[in-house]
Amino acid sequence: MARSRKTTTNKSKPTSSTKRKSRSNLSTSRTRKKLTPNQKLTFHLNEALAIENAAVQRLQSRIKQTKIDNVKQRLQLHLEETRGQQNRLKQLISDLGDGGKSAATKDKAQLPISTPPKSLTKLVERIMTSAELELKAAKEDAIIENAEIIIYDMLTHLAEKMNATHAVPILTQSLSEERSMADWIKTNTPELVVQLWPEIEGSVDMSEEEAQQLQ
Ligand SMILES: [Fe+2]
Repeated sequence: MARSRKTTTNKSKPTSSTKRKSRSNLSTSRTRKKLTPNQKLTFHLNEALAIENAAVQRLQSRIKQTKIDNVKQRLQLHLEETRGQQNRLKQLISDLGDGGKSAATKDKAQLPISTPPKSLTKLVERIMTSAELELKAAKEDAIIENAEIIIYDMLTHLAEKMNATHAVPILTQSLSEERSMADWIKTNTPELVVQLWPEIEGSVDMSEEEAQQLQ
């Protein structure tokens, strides 16, 4: 009985939801304000700028926090690049704006950093060594840089479609800086783990048997 009721519901669902969808599409197309390509692109550029604004803040705190010299240096270089990316986005926004009306945002986006569940957060505080926290931060850096690659890649394609051809090489420069930062993090990972391993090793209690298996 329950099964047949479920089948009936499933059959009727697509029809009613399709009807609802087409009604809502009609109403949005009637009410949605049409923007010019430049206005649309400005919105997308501001979205990217909000991420770079947040990235500058994060890079500054990462530079202070990390104890690993080559990481500090690479983050410092990327901070300078990120400031350049902010300036290029601001310049593009002002170039596209009509009479300087479109303002570049000062807001900061939420960076893509995964938040573990509370149960794990408590554990992190109790068991993680500073070496593991370095690894955690490097992992977050890599996720952020890879997200930025996707953002600039899409923005480049969108700018092409919107005929903002002058924006394409500018966005491509930022894209290649993000790629090179993401590549550096990946290439440096084995060395980072080697550097941090003694501290991590010192914090684990390995039985004779397990230690032998690792050798
Ligand atoms: Fe970046």
